[in-house]
Amino acid sequence: MNDRGGFGVTEHSTSQLTDIPETALWALYHRAAEARRPDAVLRDPLAIELVRSIDYAWQERFGTASPRMAQTVALRARCYDTAVREFLDRHPNGTVIALGEGLDTQFWRVDNGTVRSITVDLPESAGLRARFLPPESRQRTVVGDVRDTQWMREAKGSSEVMITAQGLLMYLRPAEVRELLAACAAHFPGGRMVFDAVPRWVRDRVRSGRPAPGSRCRTAPMHWAMDPGEHEKLRSAHPAITEVRDLPMPRGRGIVFRHVAPHADKLPMLRRLRPSVVQLGFSLS
Ligand SMILES: C[S@@+](CC[C@H](N)C(=O)[O-])C[C@H]1O[C@@H](n2cnc3c(N)ncnc32)[C@H](O)[C@@H]1O
Repeated sequence: MNDRGGFGVTEHSTSQLTDIPETALWALYHRAAEARRPDAVLRDPLAIELVRSIDYAWQERFGTASPRMAQTVALRARCYDTAVREFLDRHPNGTVIALGEGLDTQFWRVDNGTVRSITVDLPESAGLRARFLPPESRQRTVVGDVRDTQWMREAKGSSEVMITAQGLLMYLRPAEVRELLAACAAHFPGGRMVFDAVPRWVRDRVRSGRPAPGSRCRTAPMHWAMDPGEHEKLRSAHPAITEVRDLPMPRGRGIVFRHVAPHADKLPMLRRLRPSVVQLGFSLS
């Protein structure tokens, strides 16, 4: 703890953070901004507490969180939470493997008292997580790159597995995403995997150096994108991918998030514009 009662990401360590791990702070900042509202779409007191206690130049780095982006990030988190709760209803002792978990507090939002959780993240982000969200007895961390399948050995012995990759795959190259999905399908028979995809126009906009829509700062370069109409192509990554399901965005607050976004897939004008959250199911053999 530092002398202000915070844990302290010092100016020195902040300046050492590279683009990709900084995205973990960006996501946390927006979830906390939403969670602070009385009419929040996501309850996340731990995120609020983390932002309060981490001594980091939030405002300087990210500006004031835009309410639109904060709600978008929180609704995405709620969509993942719903998918994980559904999994845990069926498999209360299941293992959730969170790839690129950053400083997400999902474990505490969905904990049923028996779930096991494995975080896989790059050294810088895993270091931040270890410092600010020290693991409880049912949580383990694998420090490494998700592109190196070494992490899959850590999960060996877990029979009921759900893999999540929230806000991660857009930072990988298309071939790496395909290899990762194929490796997960091959290594976790009967498992499922949830991830989100930005549409191509968002990836192209970020690559041109502009902030993502609704964001007030630039983010790390994005490489992989997928329009909603392309989801069925995912089956070709591996024969064990037997289910491809577009997960519905939860209803949010305000006209756009309450009445338009949840139906965007049925509106031809918006269909291609929206981000998506997809669940894959893997066959048993
Ligand atoms: C946008 S943040 C999302 C964090 C968290 N999932 C959330 O929603 O708050 C991206 C995370 O993916 C991690 N990441 C990016 N590339 C990775 C890789 N190749 N292997 C492991 N983790 C990676 C980053 O370190 C960071 O924690």
